[in-house]
Amino acid sequence: MSEDSSLRSALAGVTSTGSKRSDVLFGEGAVDVPLRMRRSAGCRVWDDRGREYVDYLMGLGAVALGYGYPAVAEAAAQAARDGGVGPLPPVLEEEVAAEIARLIPWAEQVRFLKTGAEAMAAAVRLARVATGRDLVLGCGYHGWLDWCQGAAGVPAATRAHYGELPFNDAERARAIIRAAGDRLAAVAFEPVIVQPPDTEWLAVLREETARVGAVLILDEVKTVCRLAVGGGAERFGIRPDLVVLGKAIANGFPLAVVGGSAALMSGVSRTWISSTLATEFVSLAAARATLHQMVKQDVPAHIARVGGQLFAGLHRLHARYPSVITGVGGLPEMCFLQFTDESLSRALATGAAGRGVLFKRSAYNFTSFAHDTAVVEHTLGALDESLAPLAG
Ligand SMILES: Cc1ncc(COP(=O)(O)O)c(C=O)c1O
Repeated sequence: MSEDSSLRSALAGVTSTGSKRSDVLFGEGAVDVPLRMRRSAGCRVWDDRGREYVDYLMGLGAVALGYGYPAVAEAAAQAARDGGVGPLPPVLEEEVAAEIARLIPWAEQVRFLKTGAEAMAAAVRLARVATGRDLVLGCGYHGWLDWCQGAAGVPAATRAHYGELPFNDAERARAIIRAAGDRLAAVAFEPVIVQPPDTEWLAVLREETARVGAVLILDEVKTVCRLAVGGGAERFGIRPDLVVLGKAIANGFPLAVVGGSAALMSGVSRTWISSTLATEFVSLAAARATLHQMVKQDVPAHIARVGGQLFAGLHRLHARYPSVITGVGGLPEMCFLQFTDESLSRALATGAAGRGVLFKRSAYNFTSFAHDTAVVEHTLGALDESLAPLAG
């Protein structure tokens, strides 16, 4: 969309989700690419021109069962027919909390919110309440809210309470946490950033936060119900003080969770964390149905299988097109190609879309329970066809 037409639009900045913008997905000025969608089902999406695509963005990782998964859609529809929201806390709120605590025992008690950013802000608030300290170190993307952003409009005073921690660098992490010492309220980190976490780095985060009396917050917004039902903590054996869940937990319905020990979560009564629609029960019903399917169908095992097939295929493409591709990032469950040049990544994403595949040109592509061997094989063929003309 040109600058002029975007200024005329009633929608500021093209769309409310930055990562869905065409210039992000395909590059500035890309032509004949899908701009807006009408519907999705399974691992497929239909754009406003009626064209069909196999999708690897999966609602930016918010969908692990597949779009419109029948059991989840039916549970949500029933909750909507039951009113969806009301003046009292819904029974489902306690039921879903208990189910999360059963499946993810390090989330002994939880609070519900709507977005990952909100739940991360709640975790940081709880850490500040527990420690009486302000400083937070972060590692990864934790949402758009002020506490972790350096964007325009964030007060310098807020920014001064936040620092970055390098991923997988045990020695620097140790030094930074020690230097922060008794000013440090929390370390917040994602378990996977392009690479899986090193055991030594994880051990340093755990030991050093405990040593200075800071709270260790694991941001599982992308990884819960994907790397395992219990996310990266379950996969890599991490035991955080607080954990934040989002995205796939309700298969695309708006729900996020902050959880941890009862002692840390008791901080909710000493501060103010509350939102009108945190207790709407359409999303809670979707989460209950999602968690049920996750366990019943062992969805993470399926995602690891089809993701493994995709990952292996991406490595073959790397070997075949070394002048275009420099490597493969991520893990089988969340992966991407790394390119020699940004213009090539744009050409690949555009070429793949022209062949009916929505494939992200940077972190991450996500497989789901709806992707199968045949779909992934077809995708690898479409990527190969898109790469061949770029390799000349
Ligand atoms: C690891 C992580 N944390 C937090 C967020 C923010 O979540 P939301 O966009 O739901 O606010 C994201 C979103 O991509 C994320 O990937």
